Amino acid sequence: MLLKDKVILVVGAGGLLGREIVRSVVQEGGRVIAADMNTELVAPLVDDLGQDQVLPCQIDITDKKSIDHVFAFADKSGLQVSGAVNTAYPRNKNYGRKALEVTYEDFCENVSLHLGGYFLFMQQAALFSQKNNVEFSLVNLSSIYGVIPPKFKVYGDTDMTMPVEYAAIKSALLHMNKYFSSLMKGSRFRVNSVSPGGINNNQQLKFINNYKAESRIKGMLDPSDIVGALNFLLSDGSKYVCGQNIIVDDSFSI
Ligand SMILES: NC(=O)c1ccc[n+]([C@@H]2O[C@H](COP(=O)([O-])OP(=O)(O)OC[C@H]3O[C@@H](n4cnc5c(N)ncnc54)[C@H](O)[C@@H]3O)[C@@H](O)[C@H]2O)c1
Repeated sequence: MLLKDKVILVVGAGGLLGREIVRSVVQEGGRVIAADMNTELVAPLVDDLGQDQVLPCQIDITDKKSIDHVFAFADKSGLQVSGAVNTAYPRNKNYGRKALEVTYEDFCENVSLHLGGYFLFMQQAALFSQKNNVEFSLVNLSSIYGVIPPKFKVYGDTDMTMPVEYAAIKSALLHMNKYFSSLMKGSRFRVNSVSPGGINNNQQLKFINNYKAESRIKGMLDPSDIVGALNFLLSDGSKYVCGQNIIVDDSFSI
């Protein structure tokens, strides 16, 4: 029970990773404010895990008022939030094109939504911790593609790619974590990140096999493979771990 009696805000709670993160925080004894742009995605978690354990909430990380509303909701509900995981994945409709075909406008919009949104949420979480003088552990989801350049050969002749915006966003996010860690010295706020490798989500078999050949034993991981690192960073066991990045990728990046 690493997170016994802790209240954790999970942003992007309805997503592929978010759903598993909510489940594992509850398994570790915590309660979750399950926030997502699309609250319909969160409803099944409330049904499964119970309304005492999972409180659904709407959030848009690109909108300061919306973030304020979530922290106010926590205050009003008498919940002492001690940490958050940002696992939102904002992107526009053209996201995912190959780098030589990405327009300037789409590049800027996706960086603005994703990196801008993560900045805004981090800033507001830091202010919340400072204002209330409470311990607060924020964990941002980065990616191995924030650490290494893509191994394009794993995509072979599939139509898949690793978007150039993603590399820019996730590498900048890692540095922004260190920026905030330096900025917030003397406060009770800390921020770290987890950088997963690829996660199974019905990708083409050809790609999965190519990816596995670059890995240690499993290759593409499941959402449940990531949560141990996240729970550690949310727990008191990591109280003095600040500005760090844990790569969970079965050796893909080595
Ligand atoms: N899936 C992977 O292979 C993988 C690998 C490494 C890192 N990551 C990172 O993990 C995070 C989650 O990825 P995922 O695959 O679970 O994504 P996903 O698309 O399955 O889920 C993302 C969730 O974010 C929500 N969302 C989108 N825009 C939002 C906004 N503006 N405000 C609040 N919520 C918003 C969506 O409604 C969705 O529920 C992302 O940061 C992603 O970059 C994913």
